[in-house]
Amino acid sequence: MIPSDFIDEVLARTDIVEIIEPRVALKKTGQNYTGLCPFHNEKSPSFSVSQDKQFYYCFGCQASGSALKFLMEFDRMDFVSAVEYLAQRAGMEVPRSGGGDPEASARRKSIYEILDQCAAFYREQLRSHETRARAVDYLKGRGVSGEVARDFSLGYAPPGWDNLMNSLSTSNQNRQLLIDAGMLTDHPEDNKTYDRFRDRIMFPIRDLRGRTIAFGGRVLEGDAGPKYLNSPETPVFRKGRELYGLYEASRRVRKLERFLVVEGYMDVVALAQHGIPYSVATLGTATSTEHIERMFRMAPQIIFCFDGDSAGRNAAWKALNNTLPAMEDGCIARFMFLPDGEDPDTLIRQEGTAAFERRLEGAMGLTEFFFQTLEKDLDTESVEGRAGLSKLAVPLIQQLPEGVMKQLILDELSRRTGLAVERLQEATGLNRRSAEPRVAPQRTSRQLEARQSTLGEHAINILVRRPEVANLLDEDDLGKLKAEPEWQLLVELVQWIQQNPGTSTMVLLSHYQDSPYFEQLRRLAERDPMLDLDQLSDEFLDTLKKMLRAEDKHQKQRVIDELKMKRLSELTPAEKALLAGYYRSTR
Ligand code: UTP
Ligand code: MN
Repeated sequence: MIPSDFIDEVLARTDIVEIIEPRVALKKTGQNYTGLCPFHNEKSPSFSVSQDKQFYYCFGCQASGSALKFLMEFDRMDFVSAVEYLAQRAGMEVPRSGGGDPEASARRKSIYEILDQCAAFYREQLRSHETRARAVDYLKGRGVSGEVARDFSLGYAPPGWDNLMNSLSTSNQNRQLLIDAGMLTDHPEDNKTYDRFRDRIMFPIRDLRGRTIAFGGRVLEGDAGPKYLNSPETPVFRKGRELYGLYEASRRVRKLERFLVVEGYMDVVALAQHGIPYSVATLGTATSTEHIERMFRMAPQIIFCFDGDSAGRNAAWKALNNTLPAMEDGCIARFMFLPDGEDPDTLIRQEGTAAFERRLEGAMGLTEFFFQTLEKDLDTESVEGRAGLSKLAVPLIQQLPEGVMKQLILDELSRRTGLAVERLQEATGLNRRSAEPRVAPQRTSRQLEARQSTLGEHAINILVRRPEVANLLDEDDLGKLKAEPEWQLLVELVQWIQQNPGTSTMVLLSHYQDSPYFEQLRRLAERDPMLDLDQLSDEFLDTLKKMLRAEDKHQKQRVIDELKMKRLSELTPAEKALLAGYYRSTR
């Protein structure tokens, strides 16, 4: 975790124009800078950067945000990397608070370094080792060009037990690092240490910042051992999270429209070779919800590609299950099955890019695959079959986040079972507000937005976009708002802004960086940031008036409730009058 006042400081020292200008051609027009939007295709400029507000905004596609958001979207950095990047430009060192054990983080840093050295070593062997011809011929035989080999930084681990060790294990410390990085296999009991990867084509696995975090190695034709060997999990590598090819795709495709998820390393490389640069592979594990969430953060559509056999269908069904919780509105998941015995590598080489792309266009929608699979062993003509379908479908639909997708799939289930949508909604808990807080803050915020926002949320919405409106509230107002538990966040925000005059949206956001509200606030802040202050102040005051009126009513009700508990003889004449008035009004 990065302390929030540090982020405040970094943002204060950053000029958004300086960040965007090298990446997008901008022209100064009046107060703002404008240019062609990098987030959608356009011919006339509707992308605007406000130096004053430190925001960018596109009138065409509504992309908007701060310098941080820009880096996250355009350069596909994660939050922390974007902060680090800005800090570095500002000549600041990122301090870590909580969570970060400096020793562990130093160790991770050394592991990244040694892994990059390993990648360089394998690349070099492909260029100069005396037996390199075997590897080069193998890659050529599989149709991999020098250019693609370079893009994927492919390498060669020559035969032998100690090539890497001899070259990189120059000290005890490095030797230990190579062991920790999974590159050397260590058997201390019989004092044996040797290279994990031998006589293999090496595929470095890289994170979104391009750092090598692990390797996959494929045996050369005719050799022993498992066909593919992967690095073990290490402090910098978790299989359930990483995807092979994600970094390369993010480099090659400026605006990712979709991902194609395939099984193998070679599939990813072959697809890139044939002009499909957006494929990724899981690393010998099933596609996890975490994988899927990562992809949906970068592109709105995922196409899963599986073998057409029963193992492939099972894997696809598993992927569908893991996709459900990640299906926010706007996300699309599709499923594609290949002819028997083919994988994307063989198929695209055989039939060419255009034919392969036609297959992609024909991929099955999630809803179709969902019902097709569930109905496979049911007779949906019979009442029992339809009841069975709803029984199977309901618990799965429950996993979908609230939204259009959930509604549509319920409608479809209703159509297929003949059960009323209302009954199904009840069973799946749709539209029922959950009393428990949600686990994933990101989901909470989207759900909040999807709902009709309540007065308090609306006020927060305005407040986050224009913090200065907090000064429109006085002590008295605040006191009243405090009485309502659901307005606590609003009260807290107002107080914080009042105590920190001149707070900008970004400073406010960074203050809440570690709070469960962060995602909600960030998204609110990034809606229509260019709205003008007067308009927002009026709306804020208006909302505030409504809230105070609501609170007033609530307060009166509380007094009445108390009076009702008392005996008549205990009431003052004024209280009696109040109660009488109340009874009159409710009659
Ligand atoms: P496949 O066995 O389908 O191989 O493994 P492939 O991708 O078609 O390989 P080529 O075309 O013969 O080179 C698919 C994926 O399963 C994992 C790897 O991630 C591989 O890319 N795998 C496979 C392993 O991890 N270990 C193995 O021994 C085999
Ligand atoms: Mn293959």
